[in-house]
Amino acid sequence: MFTLRRKKQDIKLSKIPAHIGIIMDGNGRWAKKRMKPRVFGHKAGMDALQDVTIAASELGVKILTVYAFSTENWARPQEEVKFIMNLPVEFFDKYVPKLHKNNVRILVIGDKEGLPAATLDALERARELTKHNSGLILNFALNYGGRAEIVDAVKLIAQDVLDARFNPGDITEGLIADYLMTSNLPYLYRDPDLIIRTSGELRLSNFLPWQAAYSELYFTDTLWPDFDKKALYLAIEEFNHRHRRFGGV
Ligand code: FPP
Repeated sequence: MFTLRRKKQDIKLSKIPAHIGIIMDGNGRWAKKRMKPRVFGHKAGMDALQDVTIAASELGVKILTVYAFSTENWARPQEEVKFIMNLPVEFFDKYVPKLHKNNVRILVIGDKEGLPAATLDALERARELTKHNSGLILNFALNYGGRAEIVDAVKLIAQDVLDARFNPGDITEGLIADYLMTSNLPYLYRDPDLIIRTSGELRLSNFLPWQAAYSELYFTDTLWPDFDKKALYLAIEEFNHRHRRFGGV
C-alpha cells in the first residue's frame, strides 16, 4: 500500500494499474497562460513525462503508453511539427540517461514512415540502450492513429489468409491483438487498465481504440505540464474506487 501525505488525508493506493495510457494534452494552453510560445509547453511536458514515469515506476506500474504525436497532428503549423519531431532527440540526450538508471525500458508504436531520420534514430537509440531493462516500459505512441493501426492489422490478416496460413474462421480477438502494434508489449498487459487524459477534453482521439475496450477512463482539468506525482496518485486513487466487471456482474 502506497500513501502520499496530503494536508488533510492520505491518498491510499491498494490496486496499482499494470498498464496506464496517457493522453498528454494541454501543453499549448499551459504555455499560452504564461505568454510563451506553444513549444515552451512541450518542453515542460517532457519534464512532466520524466517525473510521472519515475513515480509510476516506483509504484510498480508495468507499462505507460503515452500519446506523443497522433497521425492527425501533422495538421499543426509546420514549425510546431518540426519542434515536436525533434523532442525525441532532446529526450534522448536529456532524459533517457536518468530513465535508463531507473531501469525503464523504452518502446515505440506508430507509423515509422514519414518520421524524420533524426527522430527515428533517437527512438532507436533509446530502444537499443534500454532493451535489457526489466522495469517499467515507457511505450511512446508517435505518429500513431488507432484506426490506421486496425486497417494495417486487417491488411496483414487478409494477406495471411490469402497465403493459406489460416482460415477466416480461425480469426479471434486474440489473433487480431497479435497483429496490432501493442503486440510489442508483454502479452498479459497489452490493454491499458486506466487511461488518463489531461486538460479537460473528454474523448479518446483515436488513442488505442481496440485496446481501450475495457479501460477505466480518467479525465482531469490539469494541463499536462502540471501533471505530477500527486496528480498520478489521485488518478490511481480514483481507479481504486472503480469496480471493473468486464461485462460481468
Ligand atoms: C498535446 O498538447 C501535446 C502534444 C501534441 C505533444 C506531447 C509531447 C510531449 C508531452 C513531450 C514528450 C514527447 C516526446 C516525443 C519525447 P497540445 O499541444 O495539444 O496542447 P493544447 O491542447 O493546449 O493546444
